[in-house]
Amino acid sequence: MEVSYNALLTRATQTHRLEKHEIIRLLNARGEEERSLFAAADAVRADWVGDAVHLRGLIEFSNYCRNDCLYCGLRRSKQQLQRYRMEPGEILSVAKAGAKLGYRTIVLQSGDDWWYTSTKLAQLVEKIKRLDVAVTLSIGERTRAEYRDLRLAGADRYLLKQETSDPALYARLHPGQSYHHRRQCLEWLAELGYQVGSGTMVGLPGQTVETLADDLLFLQTQGVDMAGIGPFIPHPQTPLSCCPPGNTGQTLRTIAVARLLLPWAHLPATTALAALDKNGHRKGLAAGANVIMPDLTPQPYHGAYDIYPGKGAPLPADYHQAIRDLVRQAGRVVATTPGHSLKPVKSKDNRGEGTLDDL
Ligand code: 5AD
Repeated sequence: MEVSYNALLTRATQTHRLEKHEIIRLLNARGEEERSLFAAADAVRADWVGDAVHLRGLIEFSNYCRNDCLYCGLRRSKQQLQRYRMEPGEILSVAKAGAKLGYRTIVLQSGDDWWYTSTKLAQLVEKIKRLDVAVTLSIGERTRAEYRDLRLAGADRYLLKQETSDPALYARLHPGQSYHHRRQCLEWLAELGYQVGSGTMVGLPGQTVETLADDLLFLQTQGVDMAGIGPFIPHPQTPLSCCPPGNTGQTLRTIAVARLLLPWAHLPATTALAALDKNGHRKGLAAGANVIMPDLTPQPYHGAYDIYPGKGAPLPADYHQAIRDLVRQAGRVVATTPGHSLKPVKSKDNRGEGTLDDL
């Protein structure tokens, strides 16, 4: 006998376990069923991570990249881009301004740019940590020793999106990169005690709803602390320029199912979602998200961090206040704490297996 949709949702909110075919069913929900999915995700969000929305101040400090990802506007072979590297002192000044604005987490993001050695970055992380903020790094694939040194310098968290859990699709989209090495990097980061974020793009060409279900199961198996889920937005100067974008609905449903499977996780209403849909932040917050990542990158750099169309658009003068207002208008509160991981700590150190067993 087929289990009714509502019974499936109720079970998901209680057990946080779903079979792949059940995830697909939720991802295919429309109309009343979709509204129930969002309501269930919102209830799990309120229960597990509360009403606080964590604002993570993002500094995009370099748009140089050694990779050539087919979807990305920073890809190495893209000629029409003014490349920049912010000096460590300048990055520190922006971090200070961010801390003054009230951000309790500073996210340092760049392309995979090895000009910034781990030694240089470790010095910077040490200085930023003195501002009494959490530091998240999002600087791509490095050696285990570099990850270790940055962790020892005080970095708290690391974002490394897998983008897709399908090895064949990964290989097509990331020439010269290795799916398994990226997974290896995620393992290292977890071993080193980082709060680890991964994530996925929704609507990539060649992706199916089955792939998305696998992506969600991948995030659950990894037991990530954070998961960034955003729509693919085609960049006109990339090989994927002619592909259709991901859509808001599918992105929101993926975020909602992520909330059911990873109840503790910090899930952003992503910048890409807000670029695709002007109400993206609000809709994301109503579908399970509890994080927004406002941009602190000063001009002219901000405009040159052209990952996808809309990303580098000038920010309004009241940008930071407007985000706080948006949070309040969504009936939520701006967090005043750094917003560290809420993932349940396991009694036995058997990371990597049955991450939900101790719930
Ligand atoms: N559309 C949407 N998101 C993109 N990213 C990179 N290129 C695109 C694109 N064309 C995302 C990746 C990366 C984040 C910084 O931006 O997921 O992790």
